[in-house]
Order: sequence, then C-alpha cells, then structure tokens
Amino acid sequence: MSEPGASRAERTYFLWAALLLAATVGLGAWLRAIFVWPALKGPFVFGYLVHAHSHVGFFGWATPALFGLVIRAARLRPDRRQRFTRHAHALGVASLAALVAFALGGYDAASIAISAVHVALWWAFALPAIRALGPAPAVERRCFRASLVFLLVAGTATLLPGILLARGVDDPWLKELGVKLFLTPFVAGFVGLGVMGAVYARIGGRRAMPALVLTCLGVLPSAFLFVAAPPPTPALLGVGRAGSLLLGAGGVLFAADVLGAAAPGAILRLVGAAAALKGGLEVVASLGLADALMHDRSIVLAYLHLTVLGVVTPALALAAFRRRDGAPGWVALHALGLAGMCGALVGLGWPLAGRLLAALGLGVTTLFPIAAAGGAASAVAVLALLRAGEPRSGGARRRERCIALVRRGEPPAEARRRRPWPAAEPTGQRLARPPRPAADPTPPRDRFTRAAASRADSRGPTTPSEAP
Ligand code: HEM
Repeated sequence: MSEPGASRAERTYFLWAALLLAATVGLGAWLRAIFVWPALKGPFVFGYLVHAHSHVGFFGWATPALFGLVIRAARLRPDRRQRFTRHAHALGVASLAALVAFALGGYDAASIAISAVHVALWWAFALPAIRALGPAPAVERRCFRASLVFLLVAGTATLLPGILLARGVDDPWLKELGVKLFLTPFVAGFVGLGVMGAVYARIGGRRAMPALVLTCLGVLPSAFLFVAAPPPTPALLGVGRAGSLLLGAGGVLFAADVLGAAAPGAILRLVGAAAALKGGLEVVASLGLADALMHDRSIVLAYLHLTVLGVVTPALALAAFRRRDGAPGWVALHALGLAGMCGALVGLGWPLAGRLLAALGLGVTTLFPIAAAGGAASAVAVLALLRAGEPRSGGARRRERCIALVRRGEPPAEARRRRPWPAAEPTGQRLARPPRPAADPTPPRDRFTRAAASRADSRGPTTPSEAP
C-alpha cells in the first residue's frame, strides 16, 4: 500500500488513515443521502453525524496521513521509529473514539475530553518531529515544519472557547473567532502546508518558497474574514481580506507549480486545478466580491469540500499510498462527482446560479439528488485511488517485501534461497540483473545486505512490465 521500504511507523499511520478515510467518505455519502431520503437517518441526530464526519476526516484521515509523510521525510533511526508506531496506534484509536463519541453525543463531555487527547497527541508528535526533520530535503523540511507549527497553534487555540466561557464572555464575534482560530490554522496551515510539502517532495517546484511564505503569512489574518458576526471595528475585516489575498496568492503559485510540473499525471492535474480554483476564490473573497455569499452554509460547504476532496485528499492519497500518478478513470469519476456535489451546493446557496440551473431544468428538488449522487461517486473513487493501478504481480510484491526488509537491515528469507532479485532503477531505465561476483571474500549475509541496500536507495517505480 505504501512505498517499498516504508518504516513500520509510517505504514501504521497510513493504515489508520486509510481506514478512517473510508469512515469519513462513507459517513459523508450517508449524510448526503439523508437529504434525499430522511428515513435513512435512523435513530441518529443529523448534527451529531456531521460532527462525527468532520472530526474523523480531520483527526483520523488528514492528520495520520500527514504524520506518516513527516516520518518518511524525517528518516528517523529505527530505535526512534518504534515510539512513533505506538503513537500512530494511539492516534488511530483516539480517532475511532472521537467518531463514536461525536456520532452518539455531539459536543458532549466525552467528545470534548477525546478532542483534548488529540491535542495532547499532536504535541507529542510535533515537538520531536520538528527536530527530527533536520536532515530532510529543504522544501519538505520547511513545509512540514511550518505545517507542524500551525498544528500546535491550532491545538492551543482549542483552549480559547473554554477560556471565553470561563470568563463569561458572551460577544458573538469573539466566540466565533475562538472557533475560527482553531479551524483556519488547522485547515489552511497544518493541512494546507503539509499538502504542499507532500506535493513539492514529488515535483520540486520553482515557486515553493514564495508559495510557502505567502501561505504562512496569510493563515492567521484570514481567520478574521471567516467570522460571520460583525467585527468590533471594520479594520479587522481589512486584516481578514489581506490574509485571504495572501492565502489565495500562495495557493495560486502552488497550483502553477503543480500544473507546470514535468508530465503531471491525472491526480496531480486534479490537485493543481482544484488548488487554482480554491486560490482564485480566496482572491475574489479578499476583494470583497463575495461578501454576500461567503457565510452561506451551502457555499461554505462547497468551498470546504473543494479543498478537502479536490486538493487535500488526492494529494495525500498520491503521496502516502501510490508510487505512480495515474488511474485517470477513477480521477475522472472523482472530479465529476465532486463537481456535481459542489455545483449543486453552489446552486442551492447562490441565487444567480440557482436561477441558471433552474432554467436548465435543475430545480432545488433535483439538486439534492445530484449532490447525493456526486458525493457517493466521489466516495467510491477516492477509496479506489488508494490502490488502483499499483503493481500486483507476485514478483513485484516479493521484490517490495525484500527491499523493505533490507532497509530494516534484515536479509529476506527467500533471498537466501534465490539469487538477488532484479534491481529497481529510476523511472525510464531498464532493470539489469547484476553480474554474480566471482569470489567475494565478504561473508554472504553482509554481501547480500550491502548490494540490496544500495539498490533499495534508488527510489522509483517498480512495475511488472519493467522486470527482465
Ligand atoms: C465524498 C466524500 C464526502 C461527502 C459526500 C461529504 C459530505 C458532507 C456532508 C453531507 C456534510 C454536511 C452538510 C450539512 O450539514 O449541510 C459535510 C460536512 C463537512 N465535511 Fe464532508 N463529505 C465528504 C468528505 C469529507 C472529507 C474527506 C472531509 C475532511 C477531510 C470532510 C469534512 C467536512 C467538514 C469539515 C464538514 C463541515 C462540518 C460542520 O460544519 O460542522 N468531508 N460533508
């Protein structure tokens, strides 16, 4: 599922992330279906299910997927990785607990306590990981470190609503700001910059530094624009607009790098197009052109899902689970489903779009089923993207297993019985069977480990068709 040679900690994070992505998109598709067939809600409270869906998406999918990528970039010593394997299990179990607690009780004492456990787990990860990223390549190091700093900011901001409550503050603007000061650093900072790190690790990119700096500068001020309640002074709206402009400009630069990368595959093309649209919308909002719309729930949900399903999820799926970009059929289905869901939401929230769609025969009653069908199609396609198109032949799997073992310093059992397996070479080169050494004085175990480790270091696709 993940790259050959992935450490156990990395794989554990990815395994939990995949499981909880399935729970997130399954719940999302169910929620969309409830709009069409309310009886499907069963004994549950709709609002609680929405909380369960959003929390498991952020805590259980995006967070462990990014943590696994950070561990990969940090290249930790094996003895230090073990601690992170335990952390990955703790994070996974806490995410499952959040799913159940939010679904059954919404924001009650149990779910607040579990959220506090999550914040503690973020600190437990981020502090050692920020240090461990030292040897990582420069772009990954900068993006992932900035991403983790914003995670700590978001985690600390979760204290704000409690502090305001304890001090008896009842100002609606301050109360909403307390929530946005968690959400914006988490989504635009931690997740957004983490996605940049994951994608730039794959494609390089000339504009990585400006994109990173603009995004970092824009995250916190943009939180002021997302508050619907009127601010105490109009200057704060100006701060919010400036933040949104910086965020949008950073996103557009990132999108330009992704779309301009050498031969981007279908997944990267989707990520680039969605990032360009998202960045463009943030620039439009910064100019004050969307004031009437930007707090409408349908529009907010369309923007949010454009971000999490158009940019974040495909980028993380590619970085964490796939060696090759591809699967154009599944990407097309996902893009179509997402366009259907977001388009229907825009039609429901923006009167002009609603009238245009109605003129095309798509009235309000048709938009809900379209959103539901789009959501279900996206959910299926996203899960397929985790695996579709990966090499499945016995030889390829055996070779991946061997390389993984060698990276851990253990010679694979089957290699003692066989000659060294065909080497994986960088993309585009043919694989060559190494000449058998005539008389090497090194003991067989060391000889094997040395040759295999040097081959395992040449990272690149290993497809069955490349085998000699
Ligand atoms: C195909 C997949 C998905 C579908 C069909 C879907 C559907 C939905 C639906 C129906 C809602 C509630 C709408 C309402 O209250 O009117 C929602 C809210 C939300 N979703 Fe998704 N979703 C999907 C994937 C995701 C993912 C992957 C994430 C995060 C990583 C996510 C994060 C959220 C958030 C943050 C909210 C808003 C919660 C709130 O306002 O309290 N969704 N989604």
